[in-house]
Amino acid sequence: MSSEKRYQGRVAIVTGASSGIGLETARLLARSGATVVAVARREERLAALLAQLQADSPDSIYLAGDISDKAFAGGVVQQVAEQFGRVDILINNAGVPLHRMIYKITADEAEAVMRTNFLSCLWTSFAAIPFMLRDGGGIIVNVSSFGSKVPPTHEAVYVASKCAMNGFTRGLWGDLQGSGIHAMLVHPGPIATEIWSKLDEPGAYSGEVYPADLVARQLLAAMDKREFEIVLPRWNFKLWIARWLYAIAPSVVRAGVAKMDPVNQDEVEALRQRLIKTP
Ligand SMILES: NC(=O)c1ccc[n+]([C@@H]2O[C@H](COP(=O)([O-])OP(=O)(O)OC[C@H]3O[C@@H](n4cnc5c(N)ncnc54)[C@H](OP(=O)(O)O)[C@@H]3O)[C@@H](O)[C@H]2O)c1
Repeated sequence: MSSEKRYQGRVAIVTGASSGIGLETARLLARSGATVVAVARREERLAALLAQLQADSPDSIYLAGDISDKAFAGGVVQQVAEQFGRVDILINNAGVPLHRMIYKITADEAEAVMRTNFLSCLWTSFAAIPFMLRDGGGIIVNVSSFGSKVPPTHEAVYVASKCAMNGFTRGLWGDLQGSGIHAMLVHPGPIATEIWSKLDEPGAYSGEVYPADLVARQLLAAMDKREFEIVLPRWNFKLWIARWLYAIAPSVVRAGVAKMDPVNQDEVEALRQRLIKTP
């Protein structure tokens, strides 16, 4: 089999495939011969993607729905296993941003982010592991965030959702030893996707952003080698320095990050005054 078609006969689920990193990863997997199941909410986007996927991998399908719904998330895996007889690769990539001060986030909003960004990967993994075990193995790739390594300001809940994913994946990596199932954690840095236009308050990041297709290529290359945890893009000096500095002097990084995206003290004071009057 040519290395271009190295995933021929494999079935891969990619969540969050209607744009950005998920879309590019789905395309690459189809080009590599995998039957791709593209998952997201926006059906028209998935239908457009499907035409491209099927040019490389005719059996590919899409399943439209909300991955933050437990029944849908588990149901995707069940349906794929019934239709194709197997689930070889699960890429938990769907995610939403939340860029807002902690004082202005409700508990329900925080829960919604945890459901989409973290619980969905837990539900799909629980559903997929028995099929992978039955068939001798599989790969679970969880797309976390560089923000879980070096937290930006205004993103406590988003970072929490990704740190939960980190913990779950690291645990899986340990627990799945000898099972043939490989768990893998991917931390994208700033990547040029539509996620930036979904920030509920304008983000202040103005540094370099990297293309989503580069991330997809590097993700697949790392998956081929069964690597465990990677930051993408790879070998990036700025990301490396930020991680290193955060490990040895987190308060220096906190000050630097707060300079880039300041916490508005007037806003905090106004809120304090309001709470003093009406707790
Ligand atoms: N871009 C970056 O700079 C960056 C950095 C670090 C980490 N990441 C992570 O990388 C992953 C991909 O993000 P991206 O940058 O490619 O963003 P994106 O272009 O906004 O893509 C997000 C994908 O998730 C899907 N999605 C969101 N909520 C969903 C839900 N409830 N049910 C089903 N699908 C849902 C979206 O599809 P629908 O809206 O059609 O449902 C879309 O396909 C995310 O987990 C993100 O946190 C991105």
